[in-house]
Amino acid sequence: MDNDTKDDFIKLVDSTIGYLRERKKEGMNFVDSAASSGNNPAPPVQKCVLRKADLFESCVSDSEISEADNLDALKSAVDKCRKCSLGNLRKNAVFGEGNPEAGLMFIGEAPGSEEDLRGRPFVGRAGQLLTDIITKGMGLRREDVFIANILKCRPPENRNPLPEEIICCEPYLLKQIEFIKPKVICALGNFAAQTLLKTREGITKIRGRFFDYRGIKLMPTFHPAYLLRNYSRKNREYVWEDVKKILDEI
Ligand code: URA
Repeated sequence: MDNDTKDDFIKLVDSTIGYLRERKKEGMNFVDSAASSGNNPAPPVQKCVLRKADLFESCVSDSEISEADNLDALKSAVDKCRKCSLGNLRKNAVFGEGNPEAGLMFIGEAPGSEEDLRGRPFVGRAGQLLTDIITKGMGLRREDVFIANILKCRPPENRNPLPEEIICCEPYLLKQIEFIKPKVICALGNFAAQTLLKTREGITKIRGRFFDYRGIKLMPTFHPAYLLRNYSRKNREYVWEDVKKILDEI
């Protein structure tokens, strides 16, 4: 790996994190979806249960999902979705955005409060860092890639997604991937990597190498929110190594 580029990448992540910290001190109210752990204790979790009625709606909606024959139709199904209780709690569903023919797809965990408000993925603090990694680090435009999440609705208080929520939401993601047909998927963080790869292995163990996901190369790497919380040169180096491998592939 070229050391200058690696150092540039580290500096870039450094300066974005510095910037985000300064803005936070000034009171800018960014909230990360995956940042509820760490030093700040998570607020009480709002219970989310799957009712019988949810399961019934889920059957109805599943046929709509399979009938959707393009991304727009799929987005309409997501916008109407009430398959689990998150559908009743959200302000906006966050379908994902980007190039419908992208060679590279980033998949995160779930929308946070900023994303819920704006109906767009990765637009909070973690999103700013992801955007910088894509644009300044990888030299791509955000609109060249496709950015989505495992869950399309925000879990209350940014708690971890529940298994039943994943079961409800996964068909949307599978269809998105089927339509977009990316060459490479970058799974951001433990949650996305474990859900897609159906593994219990932690991100520290599995990051940095390609896995086969339904015939697509999948690279797990650290979630930008994790980088914000675990601010070390080593972690930034790891992410650089991972995105470098992705760039070599696309
Ligand atoms: N974190 C995620 O995993 N997804 C988002 O869209 C925003 C933050």
